Amino acid sequence: MDKGVAILGIFVADTAYLAPRMPAVGETIAGSGFAVGPGGKGSNQAVAAARAGAATTILTRIGRDTFGDLARRTWQTAGVTPRIIEMEDQPTGAAFIYVNDKTGDNAIIVYAGAALSISVEDVEAARDAIENASVFVTQLEQPVAAARRGLEIARAAGVRTVFNPAPAEPFPEDLYPLCDFIAPNETEAAALVGFALESIEDAKRAGDVFLSRGAGAALITLGSRGALYHAADRSVLVPAIAPGPAIDTTGAGDAFIGGFAAALSRGLDPAEAARYGCATAGIAVTRRGTAPAMPDLGEVEALLAGSQ
Ligand code: RIB
Repeated sequence: MDKGVAILGIFVADTAYLAPRMPAVGETIAGSGFAVGPGGKGSNQAVAAARAGAATTILTRIGRDTFGDLARRTWQTAGVTPRIIEMEDQPTGAAFIYVNDKTGDNAIIVYAGAALSISVEDVEAARDAIENASVFVTQLEQPVAAARRGLEIARAAGVRTVFNPAPAEPFPEDLYPLCDFIAPNETEAAALVGFALESIEDAKRAGDVFLSRGAGAALITLGSRGALYHAADRSVLVPAIAPGPAIDTTGAGDAFIGGFAAALSRGLDPAEAARYGCATAGIAVTRRGTAPAMPDLGEVEALLAGSQ
């Protein structure tokens, strides 16, 4: 039965600067655009999952400030249920995002603010939200101890676990056996396995490393090459699909994870759910911003139907 998606992660305000290139240290260059909007990997994934039709809960901390108000408005509009702690003495986080105005490629500095205080106790207090979901998702923008507790609670309750090891930070190897799906992008996967993913064969080798460390399956996003679903019984390259050219790749991975988790919670086979993830990301990169770029299920299904 589809009991929806619970996501532990952060919300931050994204401040996105469009420019022809990154300035060097000590240099000032003119930008070509600017926008402030909702971001943070966990929140972006929650918005993507909710817009894809899943009953979605976000577990996090925010500050009692303007960016915190933006978080609440974002979740309300998307239909995400907040299960949050508001802090008086810590700000909601923010991200600096450089977006190349020609290629749409990005570079990010994120400060998680209040979400840095997310604790094991917070996760314990919200365990009912995790136990009552079909799928639990977390990342590495909040403390790893909280991610671990969320994965443990989900595992013990038979809830499927998706771990997005982003940003690329080291984490204890004993997290792998708690993951039904480990879902890095190619850069994060390379950092974890110690070799570059230049070919699909490299991606499969990385998938084998993740399986040998105890993950149930690997789901590696490969940019314009699509995503590799790699499990003990099969390895499936799911092609990228998009309705038009990419103008902003920021949050593409979050779109993929949210679309995948929502489809998985509806009971789809993981490789089929990955097609939904690819289509969600393919649409998101044709729009500016992260959470505001997430498509709804109708748009995703129309794109997939047109590709058959
Ligand atoms: O994955 C994209 C997100 O990473 C951005 O929204 C930014 O806030 C950072 O957390």
